[in-house]
Amino acid sequence: MKRYHPFLVTLHWILAVAIAAWLLMGSNILSEMPNSDPEKINSLKVHMSVGIGILVLMVTRLVVRLRSTKLTPVNTNATTMNKLSAIGHYALYTVVILMSVSGIVSAQIAGLGDIVFFGSGAALPETFDNIAPLVAHQVLSTVLMLLVAGHVLAALYHQFALKEKLFSRVWYGNRQ
Ligand code: HEM
Repeated sequence: MKRYHPFLVTLHWILAVAIAAWLLMGSNILSEMPNSDPEKINSLKVHMSVGIGILVLMVTRLVVRLRSTKLTPVNTNATTMNKLSAIGHYALYTVVILMSVSGIVSAQIAGLGDIVFFGSGAALPETFDNIAPLVAHQVLSTVLMLLVAGHVLAALYHQFALKEKLFSRVWYGNRQ
């Protein structure tokens, strides 16, 4: 098998764009907005909805990938590199899932469900500073940025330095 199933390819690229965008928007826009800003509830609604969507798609991809035929490594002799690659991929799944779960727990503690999704009319808490799981959400966002950067650099190294045509594995076409 030379390529991932088209369903896995599609999920890979949707998740790649969504996760990169959410890391950038979360740290540059959302966290900079004071809770007193009238637009904050709407921004949180979008952030939380897409964040939950990312969780659902990531778990779906993990389950489908574990149950579908495994791709053989491009270079079966590169055992250390193949091990590192497997660890890196599992770390990506784990951190994205933890990122979403820590966001959901933080939102629950701050009572955001009723305010953001069910229009309770209550004001947002003055600050989110005292919500412990949000510290995990922030730390994990930095870890995830590093993992994504490592993933992209490794893919470019395989594609252009080792000339292993790795990108075709996450693109559409003949799978045999
Ligand atoms: C993989 C999915 C997600 C990513 C990549 C992501 C990313 C981020 C980032 C980068 C921040 C800013 C952290 C900082 O202060 O530096 C943030 C803040 C936040 N996120 Fe997420 N997030 C995700 C999922 C979620 C989910 C599912 C929820 C809740 C349902 C959530 C709720 C929040 C909240 C409440 C904040 C605080 C906003 C503020 O400081 O004003 N996130 N997120």
